[in-house]
Amino acid sequence: MAKVDYSCLIPNNVGLSSDKALLRGLRDWQTRFLSWWSEVGPQVFGDSEVYLRTAVSPATWGWAHFGYVRMHEYRWGIFLAPRVKDRVIPGGDFAGDKVWQELPSEHRQSLQRLIVVQADAEPASVEQQRHLAGTCPSLYDCRNLFQVNVEEARHLWAMVYLLHTHFGEDGRNEADALLARRAGATDRPRLLDTFNEPCAEWLSFFCFTTFTDRDGKFQLGALAESGFDPLARTCRFMITEEAHHLFVGESGLGRIISRSADLSRRDPNGDVAAQGGIPLEMVQRYINHWYSFSLDLFGSEISNNASEYFAAGLKGRRSEARVPGDRLVLKSTVRIPQMEEGCLVDRVVPMRLAMNELLRREYVKDCGRVIDRLNRVLADAGLDFRFTLPHSRFNRHHGMYGKTRFNPQGEPIATGQWEAERELWLPTEADRGFLASLMSAPVVTPGEMAAWISPPSRGINGMPADFKYVRTGR
Ligand SMILES: [Fe+2]
Ligand SMILES: [Fe+2]
Repeated sequence: MAKVDYSCLIPNNVGLSSDKALLRGLRDWQTRFLSWWSEVGPQVFGDSEVYLRTAVSPATWGWAHFGYVRMHEYRWGIFLAPRVKDRVIPGGDFAGDKVWQELPSEHRQSLQRLIVVQADAEPASVEQQRHLAGTCPSLYDCRNLFQVNVEEARHLWAMVYLLHTHFGEDGRNEADALLARRAGATDRPRLLDTFNEPCAEWLSFFCFTTFTDRDGKFQLGALAESGFDPLARTCRFMITEEAHHLFVGESGLGRIISRSADLSRRDPNGDVAAQGGIPLEMVQRYINHWYSFSLDLFGSEISNNASEYFAAGLKGRRSEARVPGDRLVLKSTVRIPQMEEGCLVDRVVPMRLAMNELLRREYVKDCGRVIDRLNRVLADAGLDFRFTLPHSRFNRHHGMYGKTRFNPQGEPIATGQWEAERELWLPTEADRGFLASLMSAPVVTPGEMAAWISPPSRGINGMPADFKYVRTGR
């Protein structure tokens, strides 16, 4: 396995020092990347020393080093998972053929598109989260936010390496465009709507890392099966980092819920908000918002593009080796309910056309397990309230359900009913105002927590809860 070369200005395990032209191109891009980071990266405590992990090896175990780093001095690098000997294309028309180490020219356009769309999400999330440190509930949480931010930026690096290495001038232009778009900007927005949504409160941040980062886990899982081996290896290493992001989200939601449970017991009327906590109904509305927006990221339920990507071996089925049955997927079908004259009608669709929907259904199941775990927190606290996942047709903006209104049970409803009830289902202006008042200042004393969240059960890398995870200078 190639070791990480830290003597190079860009840490890497891809032998960058021996390719001077590539190194020069990436060094130029690095300068632009650093101005992007200072312009739209973390805006509060951005110059502080932060207790961060940095990748030191692409091996699954023992790959990180922990220490204080100023974020703009973070060693963003290029790490590919080790090459699998004699790897073959796992599924589609070319199943069993040797994977490509060089870009297959006939798939240049499609692979470039797949890489750019995945890459665009990475800097977008950093931009969406750039003000959150200003209202952090603790130094522990602030550090976790920054860890997520530097790793999303590293994922951008991973994709830019592929663009510079394999796509020539087009790739370099796309790499620059990734630094030019801005989350939420009207004139040059990010490519996917979810990454233009404001993520202004910590409740949104925890939902985002639970549900939107979880989309990343599934997309990267499908790209890790690509026949274009450099892309597959890049994505395999990114998945390793993604696990911590999901932990930050789910444990954050769990801590909010357990705090709300404590506060509701303290109040004679069970009023969490009156005690300075976040009401569970509000948490449910934020779950509904971020979960439904994240479902859109999987693309159309029936998709010719997805079918072609699968057939050509560009994007596989996640964990292909564990999927039973036929690798070509020529005979299998999927039932997908479709809207016809105002009613849902079950239609049978060739599975190749439903690759997006298959991946989305796996994601839905995984999110269901998250909800079960959160409900266990409520049950342990002796509360009757339970969270639910809205139906995958609810509040969709894209795909075949994007044009009809559905209630959280997935039944089609009239626009009037949607308007009348949406405030029960989705975050309201009042919710946003309430959270803004609850989270008006950062908590920066080591070991202290904002009143609306419980402390974590353990610190990072064996450090105590009152460790100074961010040296804020205060
Ligand atoms: Fe990422
Ligand atoms: Fe992530």
